Amino acid sequence: MTFFPGQSLADAVREATAVLSDAGVPTPRVDAELLAEHLLGVGLGRLRAMLLGDSEAPEGYADLVAERAQRVPLQHITGVAHFRYLTLAVGPGVFIPRPETESVVQLVIDHLQGLQHPKVVDLGTGSGAIAASIAYEVPGAEVHAVEFSTFAHAWATKNLKPLGVKLVQGDLRNALPEHDGTFDVVVSNPPYIPAEAIPNEPEVALHDPPEALYGGGADGMELPTAAAASAARLLKSGGFFVMEHAEVQAGWISEHLKAAGCWTQVTTHLDLNGKERATSAVLAIAASGK
Ligand SMILES: C[S@@+](CC[C@H](N)C(=O)[O-])C[C@H]1O[C@@H](n2cnc3c(N)ncnc32)[C@H](O)[C@@H]1O
Repeated sequence: MTFFPGQSLADAVREATAVLSDAGVPTPRVDAELLAEHLLGVGLGRLRAMLLGDSEAPEGYADLVAERAQRVPLQHITGVAHFRYLTLAVGPGVFIPRPETESVVQLVIDHLQGLQHPKVVDLGTGSGAIAASIAYEVPGAEVHAVEFSTFAHAWATKNLKPLGVKLVQGDLRNALPEHDGTFDVVVSNPPYIPAEAIPNEPEVALHDPPEALYGGGADGMELPTAAAASAARLLKSGGFFVMEHAEVQAGWISEHLKAAGCWTQVTTHLDLNGKERATSAVLAIAASGK
């Protein structure tokens, strides 16, 4: 890459776009702009105005572009991920929250309308994206979150503490036994990728932690199945469970919940791209008898 001192911002962003495009980055122009925006400490609107003027490229821009061209996730370089209304701290060791999960949060928020001081738990919270959004958008909710990984737990602590979310480091299979039968909502985006289905994108395959990706077992369904079992344990009667999954897993999950005998209103939900990426159900009779 041939950035030189005094190069105009517009030329540098144009050149960075070409470099990122050659490296196979899916959104090269957006990423080139976001890296410049990050270094300059300005918003996208201000950056676009600067691109029309005679501003110079910021120092260090070439290094960040080179790092992104190595397919290091943009969010690891900038240190933040934008999710619904929040800006979350992220970096190595934690799963980068995805846009489709924003739709899962919306299902929870829609369900919570009209409930006074609802109690919600997010199983496998990662950066805390789901739990943080619910705590932020539903004032009065008591939000809990569970995370197994020490690294992810550290990122979640940073994001969730200021919002008053009660975070525990533990296994979603047996976490929070003292709260059995007390939650209004259990939400989870568990790991669900089958063992052999290694993702193509280097950002995912090399930088998302494996424990956040692979669900266990040849079909990846071990942790999703465990999350559903824990939901049946943690929810009160009439409580709402919603879980994200891969499109191809929708039918299996729906049948699994129906066969369990304790769920009603099993419903598959589409994401913004029209894909079957989440399933919800209502607990008919709580195992706890509550
Ligand atoms: C797909 S990521 C989702 C993270 C976050 N909820 C989100 O939507 O961005 C799954 C998360 O579950 C965590 N996890 C994996 N196995 C777990 C277990 N047995 N108990 C609790 N958390 C677990 C992973 O460390 C990871 O943070």
